[in-house]
Amino acid sequence: MTGVLTLQPFSPEASSIAHLFIAVLFVMLAIFLLVSTIVIVALVRYRDREGAPEARQEFGSKRLEVAWTVGPIVILALLFGFMIHTIQVADPPLSGEKPEIRVVGHQWWWEIDYLQSGVVTANELHIPTGRPILIDIEAADVIHDFWVPELGRKIDAVPGHPNHVWISASKAGDYVGECAEFCGDEHAWMRMLVVAQAPAAFDSWQQEQLKVPAVPSAGEAAKGAKLFSDQTCVNCHAVTGTVANQRIGPDLTHLADRRILAAGAAENTPANLFRWLKDPNSIKPQTHMPNFQLTDDQAHALVAYMETLR
Ligand code: CUA
Repeated sequence: MTGVLTLQPFSPEASSIAHLFIAVLFVMLAIFLLVSTIVIVALVRYRDREGAPEARQEFGSKRLEVAWTVGPIVILALLFGFMIHTIQVADPPLSGEKPEIRVVGHQWWWEIDYLQSGVVTANELHIPTGRPILIDIEAADVIHDFWVPELGRKIDAVPGHPNHVWISASKAGDYVGECAEFCGDEHAWMRMLVVAQAPAAFDSWQQEQLKVPAVPSAGEAAKGAKLFSDQTCVNCHAVTGTVANQRIGPDLTHLADRRILAAGAAENTPANLFRWLKDPNSIKPQTHMPNFQLTDDQAHALVAYMETLR
């Protein structure tokens, strides 16, 4: 699916990649047609016929050999030139721009940090439309690869070696991103929803994300909040305004605002969240989220609490 998306670019970088792809495709098509025509003509014209004399035997042709050596060199040099040109379009300038966002690949989810505002989220990358955004790409464990086919090029997320990439969206909307480097069992469920918004809408999203959700004081949700801090949830997760401050798993401060769970393995609905808490492996078989053998009552209370995280 994402292969086709490469040909539906919504950013200058993705456009130049799509143009290069189409140019290469036409060069390849021309070579394919030329070679198959020559083969077919030779097969038909020079096939062995009844009573025909033995064909003239020849060895070597300097002219031919020079031609089929120089021809491909010229073609490859042209393609190489186009490729270098396309890479330059996407490269970060060396003028010292600071990245606005850091995306960190984890097995198997994406951490997203807004470096100026301090917003932390997971698996749902919001960007303003109409201008290029410089993103710092890192990895927490193994090599991952950040790729949003409609918005830009691929870039590896390498542990200990930050990379940078520009992405931009000319049109507001949702775009699918994914991990493009095999990184273990759940590589296929390491997706990301990129939400491109008009600058004003992006700013208000960011302001919302900065709000600290109130800790519920009564009912199911309060029971869930207590379970959350008493149980082991706080060993891996963070919720701003509570004791939970670990960054091993996704930050859950505004979990209820997000549209996907488990890096795209399920939609973020109360029913799916319940299923996820009761048996994470039923949604994502090899996830690092453990099964805590919660009772239905406990899971319902936790869901009630998490629905207040907005
Ligand atoms: Cu992360 Cu593949």
